[in-house]
Amino acid sequence: MTTGEKKGSMRVKVVLVGCGMPKKSMGWYHLMQLLEMKDQGVDVVGIVEPFFCGICKDVPGEFTKFRIEMEKDHGITFYGSPNELPELCPSTLCLLAGRTCDNPLYFETCLDKGAKCIYLEKPGAETVAQLERMRNLASSRTVPCKVFVGFNKNVTPYVTKALAFAAETPGSHINFVHNNSYAREELGECFERNSEGMLKNMAIHELCLLVSFYDVRVDTVFKIEADKAKSEKKTINGFTDLGEGVGGKGGSIITGRCS
Ligand SMILES: NC(=O)c1ccc[n+]([C@@H]2O[C@H](COP(=O)([O-])OP(=O)(O)OC[C@H]3O[C@@H](n4cnc5c(N)ncnc54)[C@H](O)[C@@H]3O)[C@@H](O)[C@H]2O)c1
Repeated sequence: MTTGEKKGSMRVKVVLVGCGMPKKSMGWYHLMQLLEMKDQGVDVVGIVEPFFCGICKDVPGEFTKFRIEMEKDHGITFYGSPNELPELCPSTLCLLAGRTCDNPLYFETCLDKGAKCIYLEKPGAETVAQLERMRNLASSRTVPCKVFVGFNKNVTPYVTKALAFAAETPGSHINFVHNNSYAREELGECFERNSEGMLKNMAIHELCLLVSFYDVRVDTVFKIEADKAKSEKKTINGFTDLGEGVGGKGGSIITGRCS
């Protein structure tokens, strides 16, 4: 809040990095929610879209239509790279929803542009080492940058109810099942788009539940074993991933890309 501003009148500027395609990409879904929050003090001021405003040679008409609408109706500026962003003021939130492999660089560039608050889509990076580096970069700034990663299954009613039921049922065990609805012929695109792999991209939601509610930690996991009978490993166009997988402790996780 700047000097002289009344309490409650603060507005938050948002720059969305990695908007992606309408009705398909996570960034676009975040954008739709943020635009509905104007009365609550949220102003989306910029969209960084490195692929559709830069690399892509044949931009889909649907994206162009969306861009024109956002520029005209909401006064949002589009950029082809986070490097093109102006210096960010402290009340700017950067929401990063690029592909996981791209997010660490977007993160670093936003910090260099002055970001003091970043909402990072899970899993944030492909490796723990990258995440640690990002955490250190954020905290080492003169004014540290606050970084948030959200896992909403922690608070979803169905999980809350299942945990409550299990707590009062001796000997209970919860299987957390997470299915996508890809057709098998769509798995190639899925593997490439989510090249960090199914565990980090998809099962991370349930792994987070195990961390939150079953005290699973790096030092409490004593064995990791693939259940080959129930798992399928595939390589498509050079990208290897699981078609289905099983894991967990206390509670179990079952994930499948195809419904
Ligand atoms: N919280 C959730 O439930 C949830 C769900 C889905 C995705 N996500 C996360 O959101 C982030 C984005 O995922 P997404 O599925 O929206 O990704 P996406 O591939 O649809 O879009 C992300 C970005 O990728 C780039 N891109 C699009 N097409 C490309 C192409 N053909 N080649 C190269 N780059 C291209 C674009 O710049 C785009 O902004 C990831 O970190 C993912 O883990 C979170």
